[in-house]
Parts: sequence; C-alpha cells; structure tokens
Amino acid sequence: MAGMNVRLAFAVVSSACWSAFQHGYNTGVLNAPQAVMSEWLHKYALSGTNLTIDANSDPKVTSVWSVAVSIYCVGGMIGGVITGIIADRFGRKCGLLLNNVLVLVAAALEGFSKTASSAEMLILGRLLIGINSGLNAGLVPIYLAEISPVSLRGSIGTVYQLVITITILLSQVLGLESVLGTPYGWPYLLAVAAIPAVIQFVTLPFCPESPKFLLLNRGRELHAQRALNWLRGDVAVHGEMEEMHQEAEKNKVSKKVTLRELFSNRQLRQPLIIAMMVMIAQQLSGINVVIFFSTDIFLKAGISERHSQYATLGMGAMNVVMTVISLMLVEYAGRKTLLLTGFIGMFITTVGLFVANLYTQVSWVPYVCIALVMLFVMTFAIGPGSIPWFLVTELFNQSARPAATSVAVTVNWTANFIVGLSFLPLSLALGSYTFVIFAVLQLLFIIFIACKVPETKNKTVEEITAMFRQQM
Ligand code: GLC
Repeated sequence: MAGMNVRLAFAVVSSACWSAFQHGYNTGVLNAPQAVMSEWLHKYALSGTNLTIDANSDPKVTSVWSVAVSIYCVGGMIGGVITGIIADRFGRKCGLLLNNVLVLVAAALEGFSKTASSAEMLILGRLLIGINSGLNAGLVPIYLAEISPVSLRGSIGTVYQLVITITILLSQVLGLESVLGTPYGWPYLLAVAAIPAVIQFVTLPFCPESPKFLLLNRGRELHAQRALNWLRGDVAVHGEMEEMHQEAEKNKVSKKVTLRELFSNRQLRQPLIIAMMVMIAQQLSGINVVIFFSTDIFLKAGISERHSQYATLGMGAMNVVMTVISLMLVEYAGRKTLLLTGFIGMFITTVGLFVANLYTQVSWVPYVCIALVMLFVMTFAIGPGSIPWFLVTELFNQSARPAATSVAVTVNWTANFIVGLSFLPLSLALGSYTFVIFAVLQLLFIIFIACKVPETKNKTVEEITAMFRQQM
C-alpha cells in the first residue's frame, strides 16, 4: 500500500506550507503591533484625527483599524467564492502558483504603506491577502486530498491546519516589541508574507498537478499516470489508476456539478449541510475570540500585561503541539471521534470560564482562567481546528468537490467575520454571559456532529459518496 515518501512529502510541503503560511500569519499579524500602528494612523496616515487625545480613544483611528483587521475576512470570503472556478479552470497546482501574485502585490502595498503614509494601501493589501488566504483554504485541501493515498488523507490534510497554527505563533513572536513590533519594524513584519510566496514559486513547479484533475477533468491518461508514479515512488499505481478510471466512468454520467445543482440535488444536500455545519461550528465555537483577544482576556482576569503576553505565546505553542497530536491520531481515532472530543472539551472549558469570570476577585482564579483558555485551545486543536478543512474534500467526488469546497470555505470566512465583528459589542453588552452564548452553540454542534457526521477514515471517496446514496 502506498505510504509517505520523500517526493510526496515535498509536494505536501511545497503546496501546503507556503500557502497555509498566509492564512495563519495574516490572521495573527495585526494583533501585537496594534498600538504602534494605531499611533501611526493617528499621527501620519489619517487626516482630521484628534491629536489632543490618545490614538486608541480616537474613533477615526479605531474604526480604520477595525476595517484593516476585518477586511481580511471579507477577502477570505471572496477567495472562497472563486475557489471552485479557479480550481477547475487553472487546475489545483497552477491555481496555487498564480495565487502568489496576490501575495506579492499585497506585501508591497502593506510594506510601503508607511513610506506613503497611506491607510488605503494597508487596507487594500489586507483585502488582497485575504482573497489569497481564502483561495488557499480551498485549493490546498483539494490538492492534498487528491494526491494523498487513502490511508494518509487525514494526516496529510491536517498539515494545512498545522502550518496555520505555527504561523499564527510566528506572527505573534515576530510582532513582539523586541522583534518587529516597533514603529520602524512593522512594515517589515507585514512584508514578510512575500518570502513564502517566492519559495512556493520556486518549489511547487517541481511537483505534478493532481493526478485526479489530470485524468478526470482533462482526460490526460498518460500525464495522470506519470504524476501518480512521481508521487508514489516505487509503489505500483495500477490499483489507484483503476479506481480513478471507475470514477471517470461515473463522471461521464454526472458532469461537473454547478453551485445551483449543489443546492438543488437531494443527494448532495446532506454532505453539503454537513460540510457547512462543521465550518460554522469551527468558527462559532469562538476560537478566534481567544486567538485575537487572549491578551485582553488575561488582563481582564487580573493578570499582569507581561504575563498575559507570555500566556498568549504559551497558548499559541499549545495550539501547535495539539495539532501535531491530532495529525498522529486522526487515522486511528477517526474524524468523528476527534471532532466530538474537541467540541465536548471546548464546551466544558467555556462553561468553566463563565463560572471563573464570576469570581475574579479570588486571588487564584486568574490562573484558573489561563489554564482554561489553554485547555480551550488544546481541545480545539485536537479536531475542530484541522478536520473541517479536509472533511469537505472527502465528502464529495471529483465532479462536486470544487463547488462544495467553495461553499464551505466561504461559509467559514463569513462565520469568522461575524464572530470578529460581534464579539466586542456582545461582550460589552453581556459581559461574561457571552461565554454562555458560545457554550450553547457548542452544545448544538456536538449534537449535530454526533447525529449527522459520518466516519470517513480509511474509506475511498467512492465509498463515502455511496454511503450518502444508500441513506437516500
Ligand atoms: C482554524 C480557523 C482559523 C483560526 C485557527 C486557529 O484554522 O479556521 O480561523 O484562526 O484555526 O488555530
């Protein structure tokens, strides 16, 4: 049976690492330098600001800042919407390669925004890098699913999320005041995004296009076989070629699925609802509240500023460690078990945080809060972080995969956007009762997953789609 080999690993790194870099890095990068960049907006980039008050109290600065932060998710939604079209028109690999053009333009705009004293350049750069990240979130899982042997599809799919967690942490470290989080350093901090794009430009061309894309979409038998041979090394590929042929036969009957068919075809509706729900669950679990506002949450719980920053870094490191563990477990424990374990853990820690926040005046409670936030992130990382990205590619065959991934990725970024915008007003209005809202949502997701999500471990896509047909 086919397993991991150097070339497959090279293809995974060249596609996933440099693309997921953008998704994670740009999610975290504006977190640490908020104060210095707000100062810049206040004094130099925006006209009509009130210089007699401080930057953080000036409504013009805070609203431009929140646009710069959240427009990234709007870009992600746009990237999600066009994923299907790009994946089918240019292919998975070429789509990824082209996508780097967006990074270079965005990094230049953001990196030079200070020199040009232009908040507009910063905002446009964030929009473009958002579109790039949205496309990555669709194209990479599709490519990975299509080049992986069945027995490694979950572990390889998890690499995308693993790199997100590593690069969120990297952005937090580089953003520290002692590194690049300074009035001089921040343009470099933002322009760093260009480096992985260049590396991908150089390395990805050595890897083949997805064999499934070559055979099923383009009808190029020989190219597909060559690509598969390259990826599998010494292992014989006729079994896998045969499976692809069978899928190709079926594909002739069921042509490429359009967005409209995706929603109207009863057979596709159930996997589509599952794909959308796990994406919604991932975001509405509240994970990014912690990723974005952890330092603030720790400060409010009574922890000193310095310790709060360290705790945030510790949390990022835990996110990485647990994602590695999830990568090792996913082919044994299965997707459904890890998803359920993760969400149940998040539910318990959220309830714990609600209770702890009622007693912050007790001296040891702030430390319980740190522990609970860590546990929250760790349980997220065990399954809810990584599984949604590749589960959607497992639930659909070649003809529906790009359209379904498009929808799922768009839903993910939309939910991300909604949580980002509503958390601060919600917590102002409800205080620690905001935790109750997240706990109730998590409980609903647990019930949904337990009842509706099938186990896809070690099944070919054919077997998975047949399962849905039988249920009909
Ligand atoms: C997932 C989420 C992303 C979040 C990250 C945290 O990738 O989609 O929004 O920031 O996990 O690890």
